[in-house]
Amino acid sequence: MDKKAKKKVLQLIPYGAYVVGTKTEDGANHLMFGTWLMQTSFKPALVAFALSQDSRTLANVRRAKAFAVSFLKEGSDTLAQNVLDEAFDKVPTEATPSGLPVVAGGAGWIECKYLDILDRGDHRIVLAEVVDASAAAGKLLPLEALGWHYGG
Ligand SMILES: Cc1cc2nc3c(=O)[nH]c(=O)nc-3n(C[C@H](O)[C@H](O)[C@H](O)COP(=O)(O)O)c2cc1C
Repeated sequence: MDKKAKKKVLQLIPYGAYVVGTKTEDGANHLMFGTWLMQTSFKPALVAFALSQDSRTLANVRRAKAFAVSFLKEGSDTLAQNVLDEAFDKVPTEATPSGLPVVAGGAGWIECKYLDILDRGDHRIVLAEVVDASAAAGKLLPLEALGWHYGG
């Protein structure tokens, strides 16, 4: 295989900028910048999120069976960087009705109930049902607008 071609073409897949919110074992909020999200079913509404096998987020999801995904709004570049830098004190959050952390002022959020996991590869595909949602004004921040890549 042409490795350069593989990297180049895989980086053509369009992604958005999201924040995955979970609860730690102690009940604290945890935020992770992520991008590998897709919808996989209309009825029921299902999504898949690929989570790094070593991430605290995956451990939280395996334990608590729930996570929230905040959809970052266009222009939220600084907020995205703060989440990536784990400067959580600089990230305004609010709680979903069930208590999961979501980013305040985003384009919307979904709350997801863990259904299944595919334990293959360095990221594990978490399949989850969308059990709650909130939509706000604004468009999703594309990963490309940040000049960042994840994939290849
Ligand atoms: C542009 C970009 C996109 C990312 N997308 C994902 C992703 O989709 N899934 C993931 O597990 N980690 C992703 N990461 C890495 C996470 O942000 C994080 O550093 C790592 O997974 C550790 O997460 P934790 O705080 O839950 O331990 C991405 C990082 C960058 C820079």
